[in-house]
Amino acid sequence: MTVRPRGSRSRQDVYASIQAFEPMTRIAWGGGPKISKGRHAAKRTTGAVEGRGININTDRRSILSYAIVGFGAVGQALARAFASKNIKVAVASRRPPEALAPQARAIGPTVVAKSLRDALEADTIILAVPFGEHREVAKALPSWKGKTVIDAMNALVPPEELDGLPSSAFVAKALTGAKLVKGFNHLIAATLAADPIVEGGHRVIFLSSDDEDATAPVAALAKQLGFAPVKLGELNEGGALVHARGRTWGQLIFQDLFKKEQ
Ligand SMILES: NC(=O)c1ccc[n+]([C@@H]2O[C@H](COP(=O)([O-])OP(=O)(O)OC[C@H]3O[C@@H](n4cnc5c(N)ncnc54)[C@H](OP(=O)(O)O)[C@@H]3O)[C@@H](O)[C@H]2O)c1
Repeated sequence: MTVRPRGSRSRQDVYASIQAFEPMTRIAWGGGPKISKGRHAAKRTTGAVEGRGININTDRRSILSYAIVGFGAVGQALARAFASKNIKVAVASRRPPEALAPQARAIGPTVVAKSLRDALEADTIILAVPFGEHREVAKALPSWKGKTVIDAMNALVPPEELDGLPSSAFVAKALTGAKLVKGFNHLIAATLAADPIVEGGHRVIFLSSDDEDATAPVAALAKQLGFAPVKLGELNEGGALVHARGRTWGQLIFQDLFKKEQ
């Protein structure tokens, strides 16, 4: 399904209207087309990945591997995915951690509110802020070398404003030295927050990157979270299918697919 937002609508309006179309048709890969009538029809499985033996009360920065920057619709949806698998994740926004802590705690004990600066100590950082804000986040670290950044953002700005680049390549330029992978951007937040086990299969997450080495650990994370990662290749190749360009959504955006196998 390709959705073309109308000129005057804000990003949130677009997401809200798309949400109204749920439940979506879900297509089982390898198993022929299937229609799922209930939005969250599949039962939540009990086979969650075990916790990692981390004492969440110690809250040492050195053991944090993951952070989500942006704690709105998508940030909270992803935090739920981490919490459901007992995986520790820092969450941050422009607001102080005290302001985010009640909601973080409500999602689960493995979700820890941090200052932006402290959250950015994680190895793998998911960017879930409004697209234009990536520049501000970029400034928070002198160097992004050694960081893996997962770009969950969608940019609806025209390609001319992005130097003709796919939006994630534009973001990568601001985060000098980071390994950037686009992912978790193609589904609406409510779907991301839902159980990724659907009708015995796993909800598909598309990953694309110009850095071949960066994709494998992100795919492993997606699997840990219960999703089925599908690699699309480079940002300007397969990745174009999950990029918004101008006011056109890539053809795979909002396609809620699942695979029988991870
Ligand atoms: N909503 C969806 O269904 C959906 C689906 C797929 C992808 N996306 C993409 O995901 C991104 C986030 O969308 P959203 O709907 O989650 O937005 P949202 O609900 O407005 O949340 C944005 C979050 O970013 C934080 N933020 C803003 N500027 C920041 C900065 N400079 N530094 C740190 N945190 C900052 C905000 O918190 P503070 O105000 O406290 O800083 C807020 O927590 C967007 O790029 C969007 O295109 C959205």
